Amino acid sequence: MAAPSLRRIAYHTLQQGKTLAGLAHKELSIKLMEVFAPDAAKENLPIDKDLIKEVRKSMENLERIDWQEAEAGIYPKSQLFEAPWLEWAKKYPLVWLDMPQTWERRKKNKTREIPRNVNEEDYPNYYLQNFHHQTDGYLSKQSAEIYDLQVEILFNGTADSMRRRVLAPLKRGLKTYLNKNSKKVKVLDIATGTGRTLQQIQSALPEVELYGIDLSGSYLKQASKYLSSRSGDLVQLTKGNAENMPYSSSSFHALTCVFLFHELPRNARQNVLNECFRLLEPGGTLILADSIQIEDSPKFIPIMENFHKIFHEPYYRDYIIDDINLRLEDSGFSSITSESHFMTKVWKAQKPV
Ligand SMILES: C[S@@+](CC[C@H](N)C(=O)[O-])C[C@H]1O[C@@H](n2cnc3c(N)ncnc32)[C@H](O)[C@@H]1O
Repeated sequence: MAAPSLRRIAYHTLQQGKTLAGLAHKELSIKLMEVFAPDAAKENLPIDKDLIKEVRKSMENLERIDWQEAEAGIYPKSQLFEAPWLEWAKKYPLVWLDMPQTWERRKKNKTREIPRNVNEEDYPNYYLQNFHHQTDGYLSKQSAEIYDLQVEILFNGTADSMRRRVLAPLKRGLKTYLNKNSKKVKVLDIATGTGRTLQQIQSALPEVELYGIDLSGSYLKQASKYLSSRSGDLVQLTKGNAENMPYSSSSFHALTCVFLFHELPRNARQNVLNECFRLLEPGGTLILADSIQIEDSPKFIPIMENFHKIFHEPYYRDYIIDDINLRLEDSGFSSITSESHFMTKVWKAQKPV
């Protein structure tokens, strides 16, 4: 067997470092919460040794596939090292400063503390909440500034690797269009947030025309800041509800949607899928990525339960038992496949020709 290259070792070291940093952050924050806000510390399900082994194995597999797909040219290897490190270093103290407020919210079970200047009529009721006990929900600059870092910490440095799992199926789905090269290929990232998936698609598929939509103006501004600092064509960002998107029917060749569905009630999940079907041109592909579900990852049930207990995630319990394949079929999709990578499940579905 050939010795791993220096770059492979560097990538492994980076991932290990991110994992250790994530674990250390959580350990310390739990200790502080026990001291300063003991009531907020809810009873978690125990994670036994066997489960910890499974988690490690699953993270190793994710790292392996992340490297292999870069080696196969699905995305440039440089993407594995990409992150706004300086910006994250600057924002890290804000994550700590925000913590007492999240403890307070958790303790008092306050889940709807949304900034006063928000016009509630502009948003669906299910959206006006402090998902993950996040200060301001998704509706402020401060929330948008620390979101990426919080997610990286939550997933012990694997969030971007999990998001990247949409790239291989996306490229497969777009193959015929990219080969024809007759007109610009259009891809929309739904609930793009701060645009991390858009950045990944942009570096893997620099030739496609990219669009992003999200309900949060603040998150879109953050996405715009990141995207405009990169080389590549302009990405068109729109504020809007994924249940009713302001684009014409059959106007996209592919759609991606990452980490949205666990934050939607059932009817909204179906509405979004129906919209996805409408927006795709016949033969177009939808790539959906979200949390793993109980059916295919029963060993990880305590982790899923703890996620629901620790964070305010009002629709997560329902999401993990929801039959997304059936929903995709109900919307009209066919050729549905799915695969799981660590804590993320990725569906690929096609609009029939
Ligand atoms: C957990 S974040 C995921 C963001 C991003 N895709 C990522 O990978 O980090 C959920 C995102 O969905 C957006 N969102 C929630 N409900 C939405 C809806 N009905 N329409 C559009 N965006 C929505 C939120 O504003 C937030 O940016």
